[in-house]
Amino acid sequence: MKSLLFIFIIALLSLSACTTPISQNTNPNANTNKLATTTIPSSLTFNPNNYKTITITQDDQSLVVRAFENIPYVANPTEPDYQVMNIYIPESYFTGDSINGYTADTAPIFFPNGVGGYMPAKPMTAESRAGRDGTPRPNSVVAALMRGYVVASAGARGRTLGTDGNYTGKAPSVIVDLKSAIAYLKANDALMAGRADRIIANGTSVGGAMSLLLGASGNSMDYHAELQKIGAIMTADDSVFAVSAYAPITNLENADMAYEWQFNGIDDYHKMHISMLDDNVKRERIKANLTDEQKSWSNELKANFPSYINGLKLKGHNGRSLTLDNNGNGTFKDEVIYHLNNSANTAFKNGTDLNEFDFLAQRKSANPFYVADFDGYLRYLGRSKGVPAFDATDLTSGENNLFGNKTLNNQHFTAFGKKYGQGSMADAHTVKMMNVMNYIAQSPTEHWRIRHGVKDNDTSLAVPVILATALQNQGKNVDFALAWGVGHGEDYDLDELFDWVDKLVKAKGVGKSE
Ligand code: DHB
Repeated sequence: MKSLLFIFIIALLSLSACTTPISQNTNPNANTNKLATTTIPSSLTFNPNNYKTITITQDDQSLVVRAFENIPYVANPTEPDYQVMNIYIPESYFTGDSINGYTADTAPIFFPNGVGGYMPAKPMTAESRAGRDGTPRPNSVVAALMRGYVVASAGARGRTLGTDGNYTGKAPSVIVDLKSAIAYLKANDALMAGRADRIIANGTSVGGAMSLLLGASGNSMDYHAELQKIGAIMTADDSVFAVSAYAPITNLENADMAYEWQFNGIDDYHKMHISMLDDNVKRERIKANLTDEQKSWSNELKANFPSYINGLKLKGHNGRSLTLDNNGNGTFKDEVIYHLNNSANTAFKNGTDLNEFDFLAQRKSANPFYVADFDGYLRYLGRSKGVPAFDATDLTSGENNLFGNKTLNNQHFTAFGKKYGQGSMADAHTVKMMNVMNYIAQSPTEHWRIRHGVKDNDTSLAVPVILATALQNQGKNVDFALAWGVGHGEDYDLDELFDWVDKLVKAKGVGKSE
């Protein structure tokens, strides 16, 4: 039983610092292509004595927690300030008590990342922090602890680290770092409270894309060489149990086409400029108009989208094939509108007044609201990016900067961007490793929760709809919804998120053997 082992090991480690490498096979069902046993160097062995005690509060309730902060999770970090993890464990789990039905033995591990804009990210803490719109957000670390989860949050390298000729945080660093942190949790499972086979990854925007990618790319050999380079613990199993993503910015190879499919004809926009200020991601909006050249690129990208969609062979919620004609109309567009309609009706049932939305109409039905004027919805939404939205021809986007390499600061990652721009193309394997869509078919993760705001114009609605549909078509358990009135935001429905996780975990049984 894990609890006995856990208490025994803590007692042992309290007597003497652990210097002996521990060998264990963390998952007997894991991909056998990888190493069958895991060797943990002593520098990466979880030390249960290295903590401070903190008290967290939420809604008049407080909880005493052991905070293990800034723990290195790889043996050869290139950015030791970022390749570290914070682990938070409720004090009750050291005295045999339970919270929300969970114990040290059975608590799931919530794994939120604070990644935004592909920027370097420090691990999240229990301190409150502002959301993307600048207002304070509920802290998911605190919310998870209050519900009895163990929390582990890893920092990760980002696109601005290093200097000319020695960039250290370009793609695929961010996902390689997060996967290394998962490997640390798996390898140290017997030494820590919480279940490493019940990890729930969470993130927003690029962080959401990364939580999705953790789910999809679990146990993939594609990342092996990169993991080895930084001295990650080479576990046989780096999969996660469930994924939660808010506003994921993903499928970058196809996101430009998707954006023009949606926004073609809208020519003014408020461009988002992302930079760093004191370890925080700073976002500013700059008003701009599309040039004539960009308008013609928009037409070309829009025209390329239907063949991409038709090639995916997606099946919608009612089993029909999702396709688009040459004008971008068809069942795929109907599917997007179906999700918008669901969002409006959910909001209505929750008491939102929908009268101000001219693009909605009503009919006699249990779900009366529907989008009668999709173009009207798009005018309400507005565009926030130029053309191409992601692979900018002048190499000025955050995504261009992500796909730089050790010596080049910015590169292209689509044939379209390269054709109309200057500059080189990123390595194809690196581009592949950053896109969740490339790994869905091999994903060991069963449970997926995806939220995208109806007022989010940072990427096309097509991106999350394609993703959720492809996952569903793979037989995954998918909870997908568009959130009414919500922009490019994070963690806005944490109660529902944790209700969803609790149900999944408890349905499986919380005993160690289940
Ligand atoms: C983020 C937003 C974007 O529009 C984008 O292209 C990349 C990142 C963000 O908020 O993290």
